Amino acid sequence: MPEKVKVGLIGCGAISGAYLKHGKDFPILDFVAAADMNRAAAEAKAQEYGIPRVMSVEELLADRSVELVLNLTVPKAHAPVALAAINAGKHTYAEKPLAITREDGRRIIDAAKSKGVLVGCAPDTFMGAGIQTARKVVDSGRIGRPVGFTAFMLCKGHEHWHPSPEFYYEVGGGPVFDMAPYYLTALMNLLGPVQRLTSQASIQIPERTITSQPKNGKKVTVETPDHVMGTLSFAGGAIGLLGMSFAARSRRTTASSRSASLEPRAPCRCRTPTSSTARCGCGGSRTRTGATCRTNSRPATAARWGWRTWRTRSARAGRSAPAGSRRCTCWT
Ligand SMILES: NC(=O)c1ccc[n+]([C@@H]2O[C@H](COP(=O)([O-])OP(=O)(O)OC[C@H]3O[C@@H](n4cnc5c(N)ncnc54)[C@H](O)[C@@H]3O)[C@@H](O)[C@H]2O)c1
Repeated sequence: MPEKVKVGLIGCGAISGAYLKHGKDFPILDFVAAADMNRAAAEAKAQEYGIPRVMSVEELLADRSVELVLNLTVPKAHAPVALAAINAGKHTYAEKPLAITREDGRRIIDAAKSKGVLVGCAPDTFMGAGIQTARKVVDSGRIGRPVGFTAFMLCKGHEHWHPSPEFYYEVGGGPVFDMAPYYLTALMNLLGPVQRLTSQASIQIPERTITSQPKNGKKVTVETPDHVMGTLSFAGGAIGLLGMSFAARSRRTTASSRSASLEPRAPCRCRTPTSSTARCGCGGSRTRTGATCRTNSRPATAARWGWRTWRTRSARAGRSAPAGSRRCTCWT
């Protein structure tokens, strides 16, 4: 039986239920306390998921039994909560973004180093089967050298479903801090570090009206760009387009070489199907997948055939699965 890590949760809002539900699948996690600036939110989650103690944020940070602070507050609170946790000698894991300024992000890393504690941050979706299979396809040379990519996550925003969507339109919100971490992490995992970028940003819809409950009808002033387009060049030479928007509609991510392309459908999910225009390995004709391999009528998404091919070869060679290739911590 592995030794359990005692986790104190700070921020008991919309996403916390996913962590608490799926956290039960990880035997090393032991949720011992919950806190929120809105105590009623912490009490409700503690009761629903059987967390033994509800505390104020200050009490949780001072509690010696808490080893790791899970920081699920809104983006502008990520850095202050993380720094307070680190200064209290605790490891910390935050939802994205790590911080809303580069300086605060650096402060968190420096503080953790000097205190000898660990810092983690979402997203971890790139460790899921979809992106890892895309990575395997790229690494194997099957599509040749990637020269370009497109990554578009253009949606209408979150005020139609989230119960408290205001933070998406405050400084620290916006589509870049909200969604780009998934896409950039996936792209960096496939293509290496970013070397240069250019971008333009604008506020396209200056005022939003919440249509979800319980704040239906409330107006929200948009303080941060809700529509951002950029070009990025990666160390390996790939140049492509990144578009993040709460004011338009389209989703598409591809990494392309001269001969083929890979398309993870939703980098914000662990098990995103990844389709490929490279040969599917059945010996038949090229296939555009997500659909079906035309030669042998089997589903031929890269995620499926990549994993299956790898598993078969690995079984023959007596190798075990790479860490994170199947088991993943998807909260969405
Ligand atoms: N909602 C989603 O589907 C989703 C998905 C992935 C990631 N996330 C990320 O998770 C984080 C939280 O999102 P959410 O949707 O749960 O937001 P939310 O507004 O529903 O919940 C945030 C909670 O944090 C509390 N809080 C805020 N500042 C605090 C502080 N300084 N101290 C203590 N408590 C504080 C609020 O009272 C609230 O209960 C964000 O960074 C968001 O980007 C959300």
